[in-house]
Amino acid sequence: MRWFLLAILFSCSNPPSDIPEVVPGANFLDKGRYLVTTLGHCGACHGENLSGGLAFEDSFGESFGSNLTILHQRTVKEIVSSLRESKNPEAHRGFEWMSDGDAIAIATYLRSLYPIQNDIPARDIDFFTRNTKGFLTSSKNVRGAVPDVPSSEKGKYLVNSVARCSECHSGSTSLFGSVEYMGGGKELKKGDQIHIAPALNDYSKLELVAYLRTGTTPDGRKSIFCPTDFFKRSDKSDLELIAGYIEGLRN
Ligand code: HEC
Ligand code: HEC
Repeated sequence: MRWFLLAILFSCSNPPSDIPEVVPGANFLDKGRYLVTTLGHCGACHGENLSGGLAFEDSFGESFGSNLTILHQRTVKEIVSSLRESKNPEAHRGFEWMSDGDAIAIATYLRSLYPIQNDIPARDIDFFTRNTKGFLTSSKNVRGAVPDVPSSEKGKYLVNSVARCSECHSGSTSLFGSVEYMGGGKELKKGDQIHIAPALNDYSKLELVAYLRTGTTPDGRKSIFCPTDFFKRSDKSDLELIAGYIEGLRN
């Protein structure tokens, strides 16, 4: 029944475009659910049940992960665009190069969610900040198709565009100088608690997989900001690809 309704919804949508509006097969829903609830760690900011409300602090101040259970009125294409060009450019950085296949699967899954009412305050950035701090220019605009990556590139792709380890573990981009890839340095704040995401170059593949599955370092420190609660539900094969890619950066 649900598929029948989805089929009707999709068939009513807008003119042809680079992001297809017709979504084939139930495997898209499963793939979307997997990416959202595991490697994509959407719930880290949009709430465990995806109805929103968690604060995310960036250089423009605080904004709240929005309610993702009420997007039924939006087309797949619109949701894919929000994912790639969020109103909070830092929160979603990296997703702009998520493949069309993965982004469409995610949008399909979000549209299938049962709506949960939860009013989330919208972002309020004053005119001056918008125009002086690069808020408008910092969101990328992806045009055209982003193909699936070949399997030899999948670890790198998951690290940069899905799990986005690189976003936190590479520090925050400043106006001065560049940041070292995976060299650590981004500060995460929640109330008084501030943690800096460390460099990952001392970790072996085995240790990385163990951390992602347990949220605990070899010397017993537990993750707080690192979204291991989501990563630990991922397929071990994906975690191995991620860890293998990061280990390979040492050479
Ligand atoms: C680091 C925090 C963070 C993560 C992780 C994150 N988001 Fe977001 N997302 C945000 C914030 C903040 C906004 C902007 C809210 C606003 O408009 O002020 C947003 C906005 C969105 C929007 C636009 C919603 C609307 O009502 O217009 C969509 C869709 C979305 N996110 C989907 C996702 C999906 C899917 C994932 C996982 C693959 C994800 N997000 C992961 C923080 C995050
Ligand atoms: C939202 C930001 C964020 C993302 C995304 C993220 N991490 Fe982390 N990570 C952190 C922070 C901050 C810490 C420090 C401990 C804490 O607060 O959880 C950490 C800790 C770690 C540690 C332990 C390091 C140590 O010695 O304490 C490892 C290993 C790690 N992360 C690997 C990863 C990998 C691999 C990924 C991607 C699959 C990833 N992280 C994604 C923020 C992040």
